[in-house]
Amino acid sequence: REFEALRPGRLMEYIGQASIKENLSVFIQAAQNRGEALDHVLLYGPPGLGKTTLANIIAAEMGVNIRTTSGPAIERPGDLAALLTSLEPRDVLFIDEIHRLSRTAEEVLYSAMEDNCLDIVIGKGPSARSIRLSLSPFTLIGATTRAGQLTSPLRDRFGVISRLEFYTTEELLQIVVRASRILKVDLSSDGAEEIAKRSRGTPRVANRLLKRVRDYAQFWGSRIVDSQTAAKAMDKLEVDPMGLDSLDQKILLAIIRNFDGGPVGLETLAATVGEEAETLEDVVEPFLLQRGFLQRTPRGRMVTNQVYSYFGLDLPANVQTGL
Ligand code: ADE
Repeated sequence: REFEALRPGRLMEYIGQASIKENLSVFIQAAQNRGEALDHVLLYGPPGLGKTTLANIIAAEMGVNIRTTSGPAIERPGDLAALLTSLEPRDVLFIDEIHRLSRTAEEVLYSAMEDNCLDIVIGKGPSARSIRLSLSPFTLIGATTRAGQLTSPLRDRFGVISRLEFYTTEELLQIVVRASRILKVDLSSDGAEEIAKRSRGTPRVANRLLKRVRDYAQFWGSRIVDSQTAAKAMDKLEVDPMGLDSLDQKILLAIIRNFDGGPVGLETLAATVGEEAETLEDVVEPFLLQRGFLQRTPRGRMVTNQVYSYFGLDLPANVQTGL
């Protein structure tokens, strides 16, 4: 799929996350000069910011193989043992959604990460015994939307912990321009800017919007995608000029209409809009918090005053008077 080609394959092509890139390139070069595996890396942050892309880039820069799995895919400790014993020296094992690893699988990781070995229990009951297998040196790369959900013994075993940040409009502009070249979309610079502004700080969103805008432009017979065409297409996709999508809007309006602006508990809010609490927390809220539309308080979620003006609503009387 063309989506694969959109992902940068090397650190040089990767736009944004400047400090992560700088740090990683130092650690990668140093490990390579010593002929060692890179230390274990934890990447965390909202979805779509490039955690998987970075994991693949790290393996490419190290010149090693990458094996990819995810927390929920590892059902038994043996699944993890099979992966670990199949790695070649210095290879990368990438575990996406690592916070969803079972406790027993997680315990296998402790000795693997710390001592490059696996303790395997053979048999059951009084005749059970444990054998120790040694592993090739390897790099574990874990990705999660929530570092706070990792147990501290696991978190503590990562030598590099990096938080991915939302991208600036300028960075997203570069990403959209790069993608338009790869996809051979004739995109004007103001068209690219319009897409960048509506991408929720997220490259995955930017690339998806570019493809859907291209579909509309083709359907309308617009050869060049300019800002007008892009804006019209994104209006159809219910992505507003600030990049809020229909779920963002639904959530903010629900807090205003059903809960007088909040505070409202996460579970209550999730039930009101018909989404999983986890989806709200991991996917929707981070952007709204970062943009200052939403506030987290000990009593729940609240909208900020700017949300009222954003939707052209009057502030409630108690907010206006500060009572
Ligand atoms: N495509 C998606 N994310 C990207 C990034 N960070 N840099 C370049 N192209 C991308």
